[in-house]
Amino acid sequence: MTSIAWPVRTERLVLRPYESGDLDALWAYERLPEVQQWLGWAPKTADELRTAMDDEASATTHVMVLLDSMIIGHIMIMPRDSWSQADVADRAKGLEAELGWMFHPEHSGRGFATEAVRAVLGLCFEALRFRRVHAGCFADNAASWRLMERLGMRREEHSRATALHRDGTWHDGLTYALLREEWPPR
Ligand SMILES: CC(C)(COP(=O)(O)OP(=O)(O)OC[C@H]1O[C@@H](n2cnc3c(N)ncnc32)[C@H](O)[C@@H]1OP(=O)(O)O)[C@@H](O)C(=O)NCCC(=O)NCCS
Repeated sequence: MTSIAWPVRTERLVLRPYESGDLDALWAYERLPEVQQWLGWAPKTADELRTAMDDEASATTHVMVLLDSMIIGHIMIMPRDSWSQADVADRAKGLEAELGWMFHPEHSGRGFATEAVRAVLGLCFEALRFRRVHAGCFADNAASWRLMERLGMRREEHSRATALHRDGTWHDGLTYALLREEWPPR
């Protein structure tokens, strides 16, 4: 992430990487049931969240989103190897990024997530030079797939009963993506 000149400013927001002092602000929304409902991994305590955020082996970058100096959400950039045939796997390593996001419900409905994720897509393609960015969600997570559609991401997969929710039921899943040459979408 050294190729990014932090902080990054958008029309209304400031983006910068996670710092350990951000934990309380993060926990204030990540602990909420409505935020945890669709997360792949939901921490049960602030300590669990701290351990995950401080994991130095993780290649994930946590981009904090600030409105008037207050943390209102964050976006994860997770480098991934693209699928490839085994004999060319070394040429497909780390070329793709998966994104994830969560925002404080108090700040929903004003386009802040759209504005911040759009900026992160720009960083992924322009500064970080990923060739493809994708993100997935439960099909019932309408707020998340509507966000991806607002951003012009392409719905590539709707898989049937593919994902086990912690409520014990199998849900449909959606995958959206963009290629670098498709950025920015018209
Ligand atoms: C997914 C999530 C970030 C979406 O939040 P959001 O508030 O819907 O998204 P935005 O901040 O971009 O706001 C968009 C809404 O504001 C409206 N809006 C107002 N001003 C806007 C603007 N300037 N630009 C874009 N949208 C604007 C949009 O119409 C939209 O409302 P609608 O859904 O009623 O049509 C949020 O629901 C969340 O954090 N969920 C919990 C965590 C989670 O599920 N993460 C994803 C796991 S896969």
